[in-house]
Amino acid sequence: MQNRLRAEAAAVLADNWLGASTVPSRRLYPHQWNWDSALIAFGLRHVDVGRARQEISTLLAAQWANGMVPHIIFDAATAHGDYHPNAGFWNSRGAPGAPAAETSGITQPPVAAPAALAVHRHTADLDWLREIYPKLVAYQRFLTEHRNVGGHGLVSIVHPWESLDNSPAWDAALAAVTVPADLEGYTRHDLKHAPAADRPTADEYDRYVHLVALRRAAGYGGDGLAEHPFLVEDPLTNAITVWAAQSLAEIATLLDEDPAPHRATAARVREAMLAHMWDPAANLFRARDARTATPVAADTVAGFMPLLDPELPDDIVDGLVQSLCHKRFWPSDGFPIASQAMDSPGFDASRYWRGPAWVNTNWLIWTGLRAHGRHALAAELAAATLDMVRRGGWREHFSPLTGEGHGATNFSWTAALTIDLLDGLDGLDG
Ligand code: DGY
Repeated sequence: MQNRLRAEAAAVLADNWLGASTVPSRRLYPHQWNWDSALIAFGLRHVDVGRARQEISTLLAAQWANGMVPHIIFDAATAHGDYHPNAGFWNSRGAPGAPAAETSGITQPPVAAPAALAVHRHTADLDWLREIYPKLVAYQRFLTEHRNVGGHGLVSIVHPWESLDNSPAWDAALAAVTVPADLEGYTRHDLKHAPAADRPTADEYDRYVHLVALRRAAGYGGDGLAEHPFLVEDPLTNAITVWAAQSLAEIATLLDEDPAPHRATAARVREAMLAHMWDPAANLFRARDARTATPVAADTVAGFMPLLDPELPDDIVDGLVQSLCHKRFWPSDGFPIASQAMDSPGFDASRYWRGPAWVNTNWLIWTGLRAHGRHALAAELAAATLDMVRRGGWREHFSPLTGEGHGATNFSWTAALTIDLLDGLDGLDG
């Protein structure tokens, strides 16, 4: 049974392989995505470590001069009409410091450093690690310096696509963005490949496109970033930044480089998260609007991500575990972990990040629980996630009520992280 699941997952990854990277899904996302690739590498390392390494190398080859690793790297062989906003809309080649490949001009959570370390553990190839280390360091610096827009050490995202696209955590910040009446026209290709009820709304999409147009007009640079109308400090992005800093410290040690600056970054971002994002009444980390310096009310799965930090204080871990096990996130007769608490007024079991459970966030929480020695709960979460995939298929996201699959089909990170979960159950991972 498990062998069959693993074989099917490997077949999804083989189908989605472009030759030097993996598409998240052939139809809905026909290019390379940043954190998709890094998460895919965690699974691919068990199947074909050469491909796992190439996945990360291809991603980093598209790095911008300022260190940014873009959220999409466009596949030149895929028609422009298959995805929007396409390469022409982003027009990266018109911006200073862009790489040779056509890319988007925003980024995504820096899973690449933890993925590189995990892949290295399967190859012990120090030459590869040495080659990519400076790029990983530059990516990290881009986030912790250029994106420290609020000035107290937290990374700001500048677009919902940099994190959990239509999360309710962005609603208030997005509502304050004024979409011009003459917004340039566009066609939503996503609605050809997934039901509208699973996707962001038309109003949200207009705002996404307008925010891209604003960043494009700014050449995707740092000048005037403080005036950008969408600046949110997100617990998921910041927790992954801490995780990346810890991975970079380990990589530095392997390479006889100095790990101390990375440890200092991890400590600084952790302290800032504890000071500005931790809500002891809710036992959850919250996003924060960097423009208004106010915490965001939405209770979302992003709030659990600091579990990835092995140095998170024990009382905070206890609080997070208490929230995680509550039926608002982990229904007793459904599937974990809802992306928005199920008792929230806007909860929607099928719409992208407004309620569905996702394999990647479950996997990140599973990784965090294990880092804190919470092995029994981690195993329970892994088993429930695998059940959900068996029931719902290789889908992008799942109803936490029924386990029914939604969004894209043959979705790569669902397949890759299933392989890693199965490997974890076998106790074979490292
Ligand atoms: C999409 O097209 O929905 C993607 O999530 C954008 O990155």
